[in-house]
Amino acid sequence: TPAHRIAVIPGDGIGTEVVPEGLRVLEAAAARFDIPLRFESFDFACWPYYERHGGMLPPDWRERLMGFEAIYFGAVGWPEKIPDHISLWGSLLQFRRVFDQYVNVRPARLMPGLRSPLVRRDGTPRQPGEIDMLIVRENTEGEYSSIGGRMFEGTERELVVQETVMTRHGVDRVLRFAFEQARRRRGRLTSATKSNGISISMPYWDERVRAMAAQYPDVSVDQFHIDILTAHFVQRPEHFDVVVASNLFGDILSDLGPACCGTIGIAPSANLNPERRFPSLFEPVHGSAPDIAGRGIANPIGQIWSGALLLDFLGYRAAHDAIVRAIEAVLDPASGGPRTPDMGGTARTTDVGRAVAEALRTGV
Ligand code: NAI
Ligand code: MG
Repeated sequence: TPAHRIAVIPGDGIGTEVVPEGLRVLEAAAARFDIPLRFESFDFACWPYYERHGGMLPPDWRERLMGFEAIYFGAVGWPEKIPDHISLWGSLLQFRRVFDQYVNVRPARLMPGLRSPLVRRDGTPRQPGEIDMLIVRENTEGEYSSIGGRMFEGTERELVVQETVMTRHGVDRVLRFAFEQARRRRGRLTSATKSNGISISMPYWDERVRAMAAQYPDVSVDQFHIDILTAHFVQRPEHFDVVVASNLFGDILSDLGPACCGTIGIAPSANLNPERRFPSLFEPVHGSAPDIAGRGIANPIGQIWSGALLLDFLGYRAAHDAIVRAIEAVLDPASGGPRTPDMGGTARTTDVGRAVAEALRTGV
């Protein structure tokens, strides 16, 4: 089989520290599962590139990235030097939009040795695995549209409008992806809605959920209004398996879910074009963390886990599962594995990366 081509873009700050650890683990997985991977690194999408070239990306970035199946991305942003709206809109958000990465996926799973800020009703801590959900966010339309405008600016009549856009094509394709995921997991899907207040677009969303559910009789479906849904995330997170949401609601839930599972340093994400017409992008949830950058203490697990999502997307589910198990083995307090300061330890980024790669090699 020809090798899978993967573009590597470390970006700014701790992106450059965690990406090498992610690659270390991907290489260990490739060796163990005999997966042909070919990596190619790019130095754009960061402040040092901008400083030299006056832009975040080269003019031919589309053509250069188009032939890759996946982009393995670190983080972008260096607010002291360049405003975030220039650095993020000039790079990451271009990738997501131009490559039609219409699904944003974030698993949220409570790992061993990490304390969830949530407790059970009886006050006892949540146990590993008790929270295990997949948040699927629509990533191209919905509330984040560019349709709207201002009128009568600066007068008493000043008026501003921004429309929500839902297309049958856009809603159905993200729902189909979410139902497929539910089928692979525990067979449950929750839809985030607000059809009691948003009386045109959200009833449409609900209608498409019902239509799609008819094609997946093996998936049990429920729906909650977004307000009470956020409360349920906090009070009974164990209920949730796959949660599917429009762009805005998904944005909120996909931060809330990982936050329920401890440190932001471990949370992974994927921006997918499931038809594979364009490269999909895999990155940790966290940003470039300028406050700790350059010190070698960033937690690499979010980056490593994102690499597992990448392999899953390429069709190597066993390799994905093995990486997640290796992460769990290192985090398990009984193993005495290395922990970076955000997880209460004193280990360095490379210590954690090496330990996960080693756990993967020895096949836990
Ligand atoms: P951030 O996620 O970079 O940092 C938030 C806090 O979490 C900081 O205290 C940081 O030290 C800590 N943290 C983050 N990742 C960590 C890790 N792996 N290990 C240990 N601690 C970690 O968010 P912040 O500070 O709001 O943004 C910094 C820059 O990153 C900005 O320019 C922002 O726009 C950008 N950003 C980029 C993202 C991306 O590339 N997808 C996502 C979020 C922010
Ligand atoms: Mg967000």
